[in-house]
Amino acid sequence: MVDSSADCQLNVAGLAGLPTFNFEEETMFRKITTLVATAALSAMLFTGSALASDPIVIKFSHVVAENTPKGQMAIKLKDLVAERLGGKVVVEVFPNSQLFGDNKVLEAMLLGDVQMAAPALSKFDRYTSKLQIFDLPFLFKDMDAVGKFQKSDKGQELLDTIEKKGLIGLGYLHNGLKQLSCSTPLHVPADAAGKKFRIMTSDVLAAQFQAVNAVPLKKPFSEVFTLLQTKAIDGQENTYSNIYSKKFYEIQPYITESNHGLLDYMVVTSKEFWMSVPKDIRPQLKSIIDEAIDYGNKVAAEKGEADRQNIIDSKRSEIIQLSAAERSQWVEAMKPVWEQFEKEIGKDMIDAAYKSNM
Ligand code: LMR
Repeated sequence: MVDSSADCQLNVAGLAGLPTFNFEEETMFRKITTLVATAALSAMLFTGSALASDPIVIKFSHVVAENTPKGQMAIKLKDLVAERLGGKVVVEVFPNSQLFGDNKVLEAMLLGDVQMAAPALSKFDRYTSKLQIFDLPFLFKDMDAVGKFQKSDKGQELLDTIEKKGLIGLGYLHNGLKQLSCSTPLHVPADAAGKKFRIMTSDVLAAQFQAVNAVPLKKPFSEVFTLLQTKAIDGQENTYSNIYSKKFYEIQPYITESNHGLLDYMVVTSKEFWMSVPKDIRPQLKSIIDEAIDYGNKVAAEKGEADRQNIIDSKRSEIIQLSAAERSQWVEAMKPVWEQFEKEIGKDMIDAAYKSNM
């Protein structure tokens, strides 16, 4: 029992055999123990917070399904980061336009609301006109040519064209070559005349459809299915993996295997975020991103084939093969678009890209 009388003797520990104090000594003792305890607690809290400091969170936002090259690349990135940078960095993936649609994601990135994304190259129109090169119709004969150009000095140069806008291009990611889907069969350019096609936000793509007297409409990817279903548009252009994973083939009875254009991505982050990543983590994070991109590229090659076959097997949509004569009509009609954008993109750039086909 504690007696408050000045001269009472106190067994502080309440244990027999330990020293006892009078009231003044006890007050002093209490002050000291409080100070020591506070200091110890602060030290513990400080050490604790240093040890378990919050990890860097990378929100990766994209618009496609998870079973696509980009969806798989993002998951791979998340897994590799958890495995190799666990505790220091965490990747959170938001597919299917859950967090941001294509037209908003880059703005959100500059505001710090999202740290990574991989928009289609066609969606950088507002940030640079140079990347429009990838939208020029019939520029690349296959994905090998695309890869060759992207790896070249000129291709790598293009990754830096968004830096002035506060964005960093971390690398290219493949999806594949685009096909034309429509409610009516498209064999020759005249079949597309007057038809409404959804396009990504790219002036080159608009010009490409205008070149065949069709009507292009810039719309977000998340709206394409409904636009097709309600017949607000007649068709769209996309890769087999997007046509399959978003079920466009279920409501588009014809797909013309035109391979007329490219759908590839740029994995991007903001300069502000990238510079905030500690210097000792950045190189490792970059090499993980490169590895995830390589993986995504492998998935792209496999999915292109597999989803094409899935669409054939579904019997919901007919894949139209073009004869050489039909194909050259499309090339002839669309190729003038190159000249239209030559000044903005640069002739040297277009020539370099074209040479990658050889
Ligand atoms: C599209 O909008 O059609 C594509 O960019 C979607 C995507 O990211 O593959």
